[in-house]
Amino acid sequence: MRTLAVYQLKGGVGKTTTVVNLAALAAREGIPVLVWDMDPQAAASWILGAEAKRKQDGFWNEHKPLSDYIQHTAIPKLDVLSADASLRKFHQRVDSKKDAKQRVSQALSALGESYGLVIIDCPPMMTPQMEGVLKACDRILLPVEPSLLSIRAYQQIKEDFDWAKPKQWLPFVTMIDRRKAGHVAWVKKELKAYPEFMKTYIAYSASAERMLTLRKPIVEEQPAVPLARNYMALWKALKPSLNLK
Ligand SMILES: Nc1ncnc2c1ncn2[C@@H]1O[C@H](COP(=O)(O)OP(=O)(O)O)[C@@H](O)[C@H]1O
Ligand SMILES: [Mg+2]
Repeated sequence: MRTLAVYQLKGGVGKTTTVVNLAALAAREGIPVLVWDMDPQAAASWILGAEAKRKQDGFWNEHKPLSDYIQHTAIPKLDVLSADASLRKFHQRVDSKKDAKQRVSQALSALGESYGLVIIDCPPMMTPQMEGVLKACDRILLPVEPSLLSIRAYQQIKEDFDWAKPKQWLPFVTMIDRRKAGHVAWVKKELKAYPEFMKTYIAYSASAERMLTLRKPIVEEQPAVPLARNYMALWKALKPSLNLK
């Protein structure tokens, strides 16, 4: 089982959109996938049609097994651990970075080999507890929009989380709008300084909003639209770094 966190300090950069689409693509290839929604906003849970009542607070508060909270989704091979607003308190239930790392690692190993891939949708936070969660993950996928703030957030994360090996970080560009001169210039100038970025981009697309009303990943609902194709390319580029069995 491999674990991928989708994380950024900046909110609204497309983390959740990325989580649900990559999860659907992996599941379609026959890889059993668990989406672990750790964001109290619970957008991934919503899009995947999870019922809010099966929330994971018993895991954090009462040390109940994580498996008690897993739900199947309408997509074969894709399960979800749904979140809700109660998750905002998980930081109070976990004492430290070390504790968070241990809780997540133990919970995942208790699931055995039921899943080939676990994707964690992270909240945009930089607490010790969140850091502990990231430490339990094999790879950290980092969406970065073409903005100074987003790239600064990326730099800050890498500086502060200096325990991570370079290969653990998988930064990529999201929400790029080629009609905007500023975006094109950003790629030409700013991005040059970051050769470690993945070469596949996710373009700005109105289809992303549609997912919230459709309550389905765009790769499932409208696989031919550019946003779905972008995610297919990202998944293809990402797969070798995940060392999936
Ligand atoms: N590639 C994209 N193009 C345009 N809008 C997007 C794109 N990806 C996400 N969005 C929209 O931006 C908002 C934030 O996306 P979301 O995936 O929820 O980000 P995060 O999880 O980082 O907060 C949502 O309204 C979403 O529909
Ligand atoms: Mg989100």
